[in-house]
Amino acid sequence: MKLQKKLFAIGTTLLLTNTLYAQDGASLFDTKCAACHVTSRPSDKSTLVAPPVMGVMRHVKMRYTSKEEAVAFISAYALNPEASKAVCMPQKIKRFGLMPSQKGNVTKEELQTIASWMYDNFPPQGFQGMGRGQGKGQGKGCQTR
Ligand code: HEC
Repeated sequence: MKLQKKLFAIGTTLLLTNTLYAQDGASLFDTKCAACHVTSRPSDKSTLVAPPVMGVMRHVKMRYTSKEEAVAFISAYALNPEASKAVCMPQKIKRFGLMPSQKGNVTKEELQTIASWMYDNFPPQGFQGMGRGQGKGQGKGCQTR
């Protein structure tokens, strides 16, 4: 019984730390990135100004398999967007334009937190791309249609 209590306490602590961390990333994303990148599945794609996060992360994860690499990529891209580095398909850049550098809007440290949160939460479980099914999604762009 005692051990169980202890384990419960440890579990709760971990959960709290995790939640705090996640909220930090979420609120940073909200203030720094969400103006352009929506975090839910868009009901009206014609109003989008940038690919939704779930699409972005799906493609980031196709290219970068470890969290470390993915976080490094996202942080670097947000400060220095370049078409040659993009994991989005060229037609996305054509449609939305290249992402404007977020230099001055967000720091490297904040980006670590944001990118880590993005990696942990997107794409949401069961996400299969926008529209069509899984499998054929490779290379369809950040916002798969
Ligand atoms: C002013 C609008 C705007 C803001 C603010 C913005 N983005 Fe973007 N972002 C875009 C657009 C447009 C694209 C798609 C074109 C591209 O890939 O450059 C994009 C693409 C991306 C991509 C995919 C890059 C790729 O490989 O093509 C990542 C990662 C990303 N954004 C991260 C972020 C993060 C992190 C933030 C917040 C710090 C952020 N963005 C804020 C407009 C924005």
